[in-house]
Amino acid sequence: MNKEIVVSGIRSTGYLHLGNYFGAIQNYVKMQEEHNCYFFVADYHALTTHPDPKELKQNVYRVVAENIASGLDPEKVALYAQSDIPEIPELYLMLNMLAYKGELEKVPTFKDKVRLQPENVNAGLLTYPVLMAADILIHRAVKVPVGKDQEQHLEMARNFAARFNARYSIDFFPEPQVYRSNQDTVKILSLDGNGKMSKSENVNATIYLNDDDDTIRKKIMKAKTDQGPSEPNAEMPDFIKNMFLLLQLTATPDITAQYTNAYNNCNIRYGDMKKQLAEDMVTFVRPIRERAAELQKDENAIRKILKEGAEKARPSSIATIAGARKLIGINYY
Ligand code: ADP
Ligand code: TRP
Repeated sequence: MNKEIVVSGIRSTGYLHLGNYFGAIQNYVKMQEEHNCYFFVADYHALTTHPDPKELKQNVYRVVAENIASGLDPEKVALYAQSDIPEIPELYLMLNMLAYKGELEKVPTFKDKVRLQPENVNAGLLTYPVLMAADILIHRAVKVPVGKDQEQHLEMARNFAARFNARYSIDFFPEPQVYRSNQDTVKILSLDGNGKMSKSENVNATIYLNDDDDTIRKKIMKAKTDQGPSEPNAEMPDFIKNMFLLLQLTATPDITAQYTNAYNNCNIRYGDMKKQLAEDMVTFVRPIRERAAELQKDENAIRKILKEGAEKARPSSIATIAGARKLIGINYY
C-alpha cells in the first residue's frame, strides 16, 4: 500500500520552543514511521524579515539539529531546506495567479504582521500563504502536522488546490488536511498570558529547547497566575489552562490529577505547582538541548543531511511541476 504523503515546515527565524515541539515536531516524530514524510526548514519564509545572512545560516543548521534531537530521523524522512527545491518558487508563481489580493489582505497573520512591523509590509508577507501552499502542494501532500495557529493557512492551501483543479478540470492536487494526533492540535501560550510562545516575541515567557536548567526554572516561576479559584470546579482562565497543559505534557498523569483536584477543590498552591512543573520541564528539555548542542558541533554532518534530504525531495517536486506546466499549457517542446 502507498504511504500517505505528509509535509510540514518550520521557519528558521530563531530558537525552537515548546510550541514548535508540542504543536508540530512531536507529530512529525509520530508520523515518520508510517507516512511518506517531507519536513523542511522554511528559510524562504524567514526572508520576510530580512535576516542577517550569517544568522540565517546558523538558524537553519540549528532547526535541523533541534528537530533531530527531538527524535526526527533523517533516514526515515526527507529533511531539507525549502530553498534547495527550485520547484517550490515555480509553483508559488503559478499559484500566485490564482490568489486574490483581497483574500490575502484578510488573513489574520498578515494583519498581525502589519501591526507588528508597519515599516516592512512587503509583498512576500502578503503572499506568505501562497508560498506555504506551494510547499505543501509540491508533493501533493494529504496531511500537514501543524499547530492551531496555522489552520487558516491550511484552509487557503485547500482553496488554491481546489481553484487549480477547477480551472484545469482535473483532480491534480489533493486538498491537504491538518493532521491531528489523538488530542486536538495544541497551542502553547506564552507564560505571561500574552499571546503564544514564539521564536521572536515573548522571549522571556517562552521556553526554548535551548534554555538551560536555571533559565527554565526562572521562567516557570515567573509564569502568570492569580489568586486561585473561589468556587469549586470553576472554569480556568487561559493562562492557568496553559500551565495545566504543560504539566500534562511533561509530568506523570497522577501529578496532573493531583493538581487538577486541588484546583477543583479551591486549595491549589500555584507556587508548588510551578516548582513541580519546573522540574518536569527541566527533565524534559535537558536531553534535547544536550543532543542538539552535540549535533551542531558537526556542521558537515548537518550539511550532508540537508543535501540528502533535498535529493529525496526533488523527484516528487519535479513530477508535480511537469504535470502543472502541462496542464497550464507551458510545454512547448
Ligand atoms: P514561530 O511562530 O515560533 O516562528 P513557526 O511559525 O516556524 O514558529 O512554526 C512552526 C510550527 O510550530 C508550526 O506548525 C506552528 O503551528 C507550530 N507552533 C508555533 N508556535 C506554536 C505555539 N505557541 N503552540 C503550538 N504550535 C506552535
Ligand atoms: N507557515 C508556517 C508557520 O509559520 C511554516 C510553514 C511554511 C509550513 N510552509 C509550511 C508549515 C508548509 C506546514 C507546511 O508556522
